[in-house]
Amino acid sequence: MRIDKLLSSMGLASRTESAKAAKQGLIKVNGNIISKSDIKVNPDTDVIEFMGKNISYKSNIYIMMNKPSGVVSSTDGKDGDTVISLLPEDLQKCGLFPCGRLDKDTVGLLIITNDGATSHYLLSPKRHVSKIYYVKTAFPVTENDIKLLETGVQLDKGDIARPANVQKVSENEIYITIVEGMYHQIKRMLEAVNNKVTFLERVEFGTLSLDTSLKRGEWRYLTQDEIDILLRQTK
Ligand code: URA
Repeated sequence: MRIDKLLSSMGLASRTESAKAAKQGLIKVNGNIISKSDIKVNPDTDVIEFMGKNISYKSNIYIMMNKPSGVVSSTDGKDGDTVISLLPEDLQKCGLFPCGRLDKDTVGLLIITNDGATSHYLLSPKRHVSKIYYVKTAFPVTENDIKLLETGVQLDKGDIARPANVQKVSENEIYITIVEGMYHQIKRMLEAVNNKVTFLERVEFGTLSLDTSLKRGEWRYLTQDEIDILLRQTK
């Protein structure tokens, strides 16, 4: 594999940046400075150093994004309106996709990865991975509504939502935990109790919590600890 491809696939440097770094002597392979960024390396056996740090190649990428409103959770859409288009160009070429969907107007925690198996596991209805949403509603949420949501409600089109866990924050604000991921599920659950969602934010997904230091539209790589915990679940 070409070293510039390796560095870009890890999101460390674009091809142009790799070429510059090589010219500046900032890339070493097995202890030797390389002057060109198109040389081939074996990521399993070669010791690669980039800007003074050893690189351990990982083909899988895991990103946490604080999804803003107004972009779709898919890989293709009109120019600039997908979550993938918010990533740097190099990362856009790494086969990344969102792990599950949030509606265009929903904000908050979205995992973006190129690890199909893990994504499949996390989204499988059999796995009951929990998701917590912060919800603002048009009308007060009553104790009776909470009881209904916690028992399981009948949605439109005949779907039934499993029992959720609801924490009331104020008259028009709740946290709701669900273990499914049906289309527009939270909006439909609130409609089932004659209410309406006016703001929806995902704050937790499985073992991951939204990093509140990320502004809307910002992203970061998952830490190694977060990745280890995430992958441990799927074993
Ligand atoms: N439920 C919804 O209604 N919308 C989302 O985006 C996520 C969950």
